Amino acid sequence: MNIIQVKDYAEMSKKAAELLIKKVKANPSINLGLATGGTPKGLYKELIHDHTQNGTSYQKVTTFNLDEYIGMKANNPNSYHYYMADALFNHIDIPAQHTHLPNGRAQNNEQECIRYDQLIDSLGGIDLQVLGIGQNGHIGFNEPGTPFHSPTHIVKLEESTRQANARYFNSIDEVPTHAITMGISSIMKSKEILLLVSGESKSEAMQKLLHGEISEDFPASILKNHPCVTIIADQKALSGILINS
Ligand code: GLP
Repeated sequence: MNIIQVKDYAEMSKKAAELLIKKVKANPSINLGLATGGTPKGLYKELIHDHTQNGTSYQKVTTFNLDEYIGMKANNPNSYHYYMADALFNHIDIPAQHTHLPNGRAQNNEQECIRYDQLIDSLGGIDLQVLGIGQNGHIGFNEPGTPFHSPTHIVKLEESTRQANARYFNSIDEVPTHAITMGISSIMKSKEILLLVSGESKSEAMQKLLHGEISEDFPASILKNHPCVTIIADQKALSGILINS
């Protein structure tokens, strides 16, 4: 894993945007895997800024998001459909039909999981997957204990994850109990992975990721087995952590 150490959230976002824009310019038809949460918001702002200022085009880009809450309408401001439209898609020139998220309101959830993985495969797989990390090491919504071979599936969210995400809702009761997430095997199939980590609340997770063992109890640890992972982490996320380089 290649670790890029940066000062703070702003620098992490700029660095991630630089990297991603370079990839889009090198391959205008790139398939991007995208994440939600607080972490990539700054990256998306930088991409919009660059698109507006420099005209980097996303007309041929295809995107796949990691996850969506179960039962939430796309027009609910807390849905990841809404988040992506608001944080990125509405502000760049990507055609709506090129942007894909799992459907949290499918009639048949199991079919939806299969459909999503097949869709990714049929469009050539993900070239670059952007990831955040949960405090308990989750990636996407793959909670601790998720088998590493899991494809896209339905998960029951851990209480700690619901608590962590409650800041976006009016109350914890509104936070959904289930989500649909790209599985760990789906994520690991990406040709390249870019993990963004910022803030003190993530330093324990970083410590485990860099110095712990590979275990299903800490989902992100599987990334050590991926041949092409770049981590951009800020000083707070890396506080007190020894980096072997
Ligand atoms: C959320 C998302 C993940 C995200 C993580 C961290 O629950 N499902 O994709 O990476 O938790 O979120 P944040 O970036 O807000 O800390």
